[in-house]
Amino acid sequence: MEPTVAVIGATGAVGDVFLKIAAERKLPMKQLKLLASARSKGKVLRYEGPTTVAPNGGDIVVEETTAESLADADIVFCSASSEVSKQWGPWLKERGKVMIDDGSAFRMDPTVPLVIPEVNGDDLEWHQGIVSIPNCTTTPLAMALDAMRQVAPLSRVTASTYQAVSGTGAAAVRELDAQVAAIGRGEAIPTPEQYPVQIAGNVLPHVDSFDEEEDYYTKEELKMRNETRKILHLDGLRFAATCVRVPVAIGHAEVVHAEFEREASIADLVAALQAAEGVEVITDPTKYVTPLEIAGDDRAFVARLRPDRTVEHGVTFWCLTDNLRKGAALNAIQIAEEMLKRDLVFDYAAKA
Ligand SMILES: NC(=O)c1ccc[n+]([C@@H]2O[C@H](COP(=O)([O-])OP(=O)(O)OC[C@H]3O[C@@H](n4cnc5c(N)ncnc54)[C@H](OP(=O)(O)O)[C@@H]3O)[C@@H](O)[C@H]2O)c1
Repeated sequence: MEPTVAVIGATGAVGDVFLKIAAERKLPMKQLKLLASARSKGKVLRYEGPTTVAPNGGDIVVEETTAESLADADIVFCSASSEVSKQWGPWLKERGKVMIDDGSAFRMDPTVPLVIPEVNGDDLEWHQGIVSIPNCTTTPLAMALDAMRQVAPLSRVTASTYQAVSGTGAAAVRELDAQVAAIGRGEAIPTPEQYPVQIAGNVLPHVDSFDEEEDYYTKEELKMRNETRKILHLDGLRFAATCVRVPVAIGHAEVVHAEFEREASIADLVAALQAAEGVEVITDPTKYVTPLEIAGDDRAFVARLRPDRTVEHGVTFWCLTDNLRKGAALNAIQIAEEMLKRDLVFDYAAKA
């Protein structure tokens, strides 16, 4: 049996990449419904992949997200906002449908699995209708750390990120492009709307809002900490991050310092990373990849892995992935594939 799939947020940055990856991977589906806000109703988007009703793909008219447009969906990918996820998640769950949510609304809900299939796919077994994907900076980090902890238990992690503007959404990409164009023409920069200050030619140590109750860490930094702990099932992991926005279109990169409870040699860590599904480790210590090079790639990359001799049993490394692919749409699609493989969609619907 193939599911009817709906995508809320089909017109957004993640939605656009979702359509490409679902087609590339031929995600099994009876029908594909593309949904967004009322603003996009009637827009036409092309889906190149096969569905039962359109084996050669075709144009799909975007519908407004309503109870009616969602009524016949079996799996709903939600790539819109926390408010939209909160509006529809419980509604879908009550009706025995599965929502795979890209946003942060339910990530820390104890009844909601937060999943990277290569790391904790087994957590899908206890889903109750909603499954969340991690934040796009958490995903490559958790993949790298999960591989490394096969060598020795983790005791402490710190990370500094270099996050692309597409992580904010399609409007932020347009804002960066407009600022770069204005600079090129020697004109005044249009007033920034997506960020507090100009992003072109700049670096902002500020991703999401500051949390007064958490020592003014930003919500993004707290998401990285809390989500990494949940995915790795390491509640007490000592973790601190600083999240930074950079004027890059696609690709979130991070500098990570990890400490282990006992000796973990670089050779053993490299071997563990090489064995990890979805991870590519660059072993030449003088070589690395950059966001520009990995945009469009499905893997999480690790490079410049070397000892951190300022602490006992420490290493430092460069880690990155395409935030729109493995950081969002690809991970969500892999979750759906895994749930279908494990019979966790229709079996759940029958029990609900
Ligand atoms: N970008 C990333 O790298 C990334 C990574 C991981 C997770 N995420 C998460 O994925 C979600 C989408 O991010 P994005 O970057 O794709 O954002 P985006 O480019 O701003 O797109 C937002 C989408 O949501 C739709 N939308 C807005 N209000 C809606 C409503 N009331 N009902 C239904 N749809 C509505 C928009 O439709 P209209 O076109 O009609 O406005 C648009 O399709 C967010 O929750 C984000 O946190 C993003």
